[in-house]
Amino acid sequence: MSKQSDKPWSGRFTEPTDAFVEAFTASVSFDQRMYKHDIMGSIAHASMLAKVGVLTKEECQTIIDGLEDIQRDIEQDNFAWSTELEDVHMNIEARLTDRIGDVGKKLHTGRSRNDQVATDIRLYLREQIDLIQAELIRLQQGLLQLAEQEADTIMPGFTHLQTAQPVTLGHHMLAWFEMLLRDSARLIDCRKRVNIMPLGAAALAGTTYPIDREFTAKELGFDGVCENSLDAVSDRDFAIEFTSAAAVIMMHLSRFSEELILWSSAQFNFVDLGDRFCTGSSIMPQKKNPDVPELVRGKTGRIYGHLISLLTIMKGQPLAYNKDNQEDKEPLFDTIDNLRGCLRLYADMMPQIIVNRDAMYKAAKSGFSTATDLADYLVRKGVPFRDAHEIVGKSVKHGIDTGKDLSEMSLDELQLFSDHIEQDVFEVLTLEGSVAARNHIGGTAPEQVRAAIVKAKKLLIN
Ligand code: ARG
Repeated sequence: MSKQSDKPWSGRFTEPTDAFVEAFTASVSFDQRMYKHDIMGSIAHASMLAKVGVLTKEECQTIIDGLEDIQRDIEQDNFAWSTELEDVHMNIEARLTDRIGDVGKKLHTGRSRNDQVATDIRLYLREQIDLIQAELIRLQQGLLQLAEQEADTIMPGFTHLQTAQPVTLGHHMLAWFEMLLRDSARLIDCRKRVNIMPLGAAALAGTTYPIDREFTAKELGFDGVCENSLDAVSDRDFAIEFTSAAAVIMMHLSRFSEELILWSSAQFNFVDLGDRFCTGSSIMPQKKNPDVPELVRGKTGRIYGHLISLLTIMKGQPLAYNKDNQEDKEPLFDTIDNLRGCLRLYADMMPQIIVNRDAMYKAAKSGFSTATDLADYLVRKGVPFRDAHEIVGKSVKHGIDTGKDLSEMSLDELQLFSDHIEQDVFEVLTLEGSVAARNHIGGTAPEQVRAAIVKAKKLLIN
């Protein structure tokens, strides 16, 4: 009986695939981005087959040369991807046989697309995690630079978005740094589980050939091999874990965005984001819109969506491989692309941010941000904290009625509320005194900010 098509699996079929089914089941339009990793995996697999005597040295070399030629063709945009050949794996394998003849048909010995695809994704993701780490570090360096530059800059600290206590901008930037440091640690941890090799699991049960999985793993830079073939071909928890780490990074960037959007508004006027990171309005000539942080905030939603997609794709699958798993790629790739883009833009944007120190200082001066300092002062003079709280509350009420900040009241005025208040009160009512007094690890005092930066720089190097 004649073959129904060029498909490598067409042997047991008697009619060609329905055209729409072919288009529906194909993944080549999106999995072709793993061509380099697919070829890398195939070269390592062929080398292993030669090592254990399943291929001759010459056969192996012919295969490797053919694969390298194909990689060159793809990179020179000289490769016609075919939907009929379904995915990146079969496209490359078919082209290999076209080029080198029957020996190309031996490459797939002892292997299945099931362990092949799982290996490709892990190789691809490992590389992307490293690129993402590099952007994260660049962003962290930008934050440290800004923190250093603004270690003494005073701004209002908020709770409930209401003025709470003065803080230094350097301290605020270091809060972002800490978040990203944990994000980076999560990726490092996730990478350990990504970097384990499924190859050798074949379709699901392993293979009858005398394969040397450790050899292949070493060739590919994997830290180990998956210990169970059924698990190896089927689980995508490593991709879920990565996307979960990505979702947390996006959540952090989204919070950061929210602040930059508020801070760059005319009402706050704390920062200028730099023209090259903003766009204008087609109707309102005065507008300069913070599109980059807005889009980053907006994209957070789709990354959360991808996490839920991946979790859901996995949840109903019995062992071992099911075609459902082909749906892992688009959410994973989109997560990678958008995360990398957001981090890159943020890292680029950091050095361009212009800080309006006067506006920050003025804002910190309003809203009675040193009220807690006055209460602490009274406590030091022997007043119980709850009574001190009440006294300061009354002073604030007086300030609201008379339009004065606590530091703008005369000593006589302040003494209306407590005779424990003396001339030295003005030292604690200043913004500088307030931040300098919070001088312990994790506190906002400029001295602590500088010490934290020294520590942080060492962490970044290691
Ligand atoms: N394109 C497939 C995927 O992404 C490759 C594995 C196909 N395996 C199979 N038995 N049909 O998962």
